[in-house]
Amino acid sequence: MPAEDVAAYYNQGREQERLTRDSGKLELVRTQEIIQRYLSPPPAAVLDIGGGAGVYALWLARLGYTVHLVDLMALHIEQALQASARQPDHPLASARIGNALQLDFPDGSADVVLLLGPLYHLTERGDRVQALREACRILKPSGLLFAATISRFASLLDGLMRGFLTDARFAELTAQDLTDGQHRNPGQQPGYFTTAYFHYPTEIQAEAADAGFQVEATLAVEGPAGFMPNFDQFWDDQTLRQRLLRLLRIIESDPAIISATGHLLTIGRKP
Ligand SMILES: C[S@@+](CC[C@H](N)C(=O)[O-])C[C@H]1O[C@@H](n2cnc3c(N)ncnc32)[C@H](O)[C@@H]1O
Repeated sequence: MPAEDVAAYYNQGREQERLTRDSGKLELVRTQEIIQRYLSPPPAAVLDIGGGAGVYALWLARLGYTVHLVDLMALHIEQALQASARQPDHPLASARIGNALQLDFPDGSADVVLLLGPLYHLTERGDRVQALREACRILKPSGLLFAATISRFASLLDGLMRGFLTDARFAELTAQDLTDGQHRNPGQQPGYFTTAYFHYPTEIQAEAADAGFQVEATLAVEGPAGFMPNFDQFWDDQTLRQRLLRLLRIIESDPAIISATGHLLTIGRKP
């Protein structure tokens, strides 16, 4: 079971729609774009660990991959199975409750592992390395890992750009994030997320290397665009959207700006 506050956060049921709203739309498109840059064409076995309600798993299944989804939350598994039933020509191969720390898949059984969630909810470094070791164990040699983390500066930038810093409680949790990366939302204030660890890019790279991966890249997913107060105005205009995406591709791996983002995506390869 996830920690109580994390479970309460996800039991609000917002995960299924998250990537269809605000800068979630940018997170989705950029994550898909980056994943597709690295993926070989199907057939291939993909394990989506912490796959939530299945947005990425269902997309990859539609593209022809064999996709297994694992998540801690029963609600998300239920939602993923319902959505899978709605695409009968491309269903998930399986969706079940499980923990990234100990996975019920054989060694060397996957071509690709997505870890787009568990790493930022594991607040201890040892647990994050353990989850990454499990991902490495179940991958075939040369298999690919896509690991999402949240930037150390996410709350600061969100707070500044979207006004949350006028709230003293948000200022307090932001100070904690900036000090040691330990994000907490004791009042379970809606919109202020839940228990998590916020990374520097070099930290996730060292964690992945410690777990046995060759790190190919760490990329900013949304970049500063994820914090734009007028995001929809840009996104709804095709010319402006393409302009935005082009500039994000230019800065995505620039170490001088990479932490100015909500999410980082690290790509690792099993030797
Ligand atoms: C923000 S959601 C992301 C869902 C999806 N991967 C996405 O990117 O949209 C984080 C997910 O990770 C799951 N999770 C957190 N810790 C986990 C763990 N140790 N093992 C498996 N799933 C976990 C949560 O239940 C939640 O569904």
